[in-house]
Amino acid sequence: MDLGLKGRRALVLGASRGLGRAIAVTLAAEGASVVLCGRNREALAEVAATIAGAGGDATPLTLDLADRAGVDAALATLGDVGIDILINNGGGPPPGPVASVESDVWSRQFEVMVNALFRVTAHVLPGMRARQWGRIVNIVSSGVVQPIPNLGISNALRASVVGWAKTLAGEVAADGVTVNSVLPGRIHTERVDSLDAAAATRSGKTVAEIAAASRATIPAGRYGTPQEFADVVAFLASERASYVTGALMRVDGGAIRSI
Ligand SMILES: NC(=O)c1ccc[n+]([C@@H]2O[C@H](COP(=O)([O-])OP(=O)(O)OC[C@H]3O[C@@H](n4cnc5c(N)ncnc54)[C@H](OP(=O)(O)O)[C@@H]3O)[C@@H](O)[C@H]2O)c1
Repeated sequence: MDLGLKGRRALVLGASRGLGRAIAVTLAAEGASVVLCGRNREALAEVAATIAGAGGDATPLTLDLADRAGVDAALATLGDVGIDILINNGGGPPPGPVASVESDVWSRQFEVMVNALFRVTAHVLPGMRARQWGRIVNIVSSGVVQPIPNLGISNALRASVVGWAKTLAGEVAADGVTVNSVLPGRIHTERVDSLDAAAATRSGKTVAEIAAASRATIPAGRYGTPQEFADVVAFLASERASYVTGALMRVDGGAIRSI
């Protein structure tokens, strides 16, 4: 299937590693030009070199989603270049009991996990609407359907993104812009390794024991790969998914138990 991505321009947040990296590499392999965002300049350069080495087109754009002025300045460097595809992605919050989250932690996490995504979207959306074509894909979590114990900040704040996305999808559908959210269950990235390591420290078990117990809760019996996740995102970002909007797409090996 030709995804129709040749000549499209994508802005991928959190592109320096993990899911965002896999998405950027996959979109580029399908012929899109990608702008790679994140804080780690060296890691972004490595992803850009990987994409260029495979014959693709990638431009690193260093930004910190916690820094409003910095994000605005970085986006301004794009000039009049229209973004057709926006991948709203970034770092996850620290684990811990939700009952003891301090007020200023809520504010900081809202800024980076929610408000920053809204602001970047507001920057690219007018161009998408004017060109009557756009794809916005938000990377959230299985926790928006089945809240994950000890990840209360994620459960709470990603629900905001999902509510916003559904509302926005209705507002822009007639302009050819789709807005969808993708829910990773457990996809094997550095973040999953660090969450397993934190759980091992908390429980006194080994990381291998924690990972085995986690895999045992997934009907597929394993963690997903970043490529399996990126392939679904690439489809939602493609020409082929033109009539899919306002959706929550699970990529979880069956981990979410509800319909
Ligand atoms: N992997 C899973 O199974 C899973 C499951 C549920 C939810 N999620 C969520 O999906 C998202 C991506 O997952 P992942 O596993 O790929 O996470 P990850 O390995 O931690 O990658 C996060 C990405 O976001 C970037 N980032 C973090 N903070 C940033 C900031 N302040 N400004 C700009 N960029 C920032 C990081 O790059 P820099 O460090 O270069 O900034 C990195 O590229 C995360 O929010 C995660 O919580 C993942």
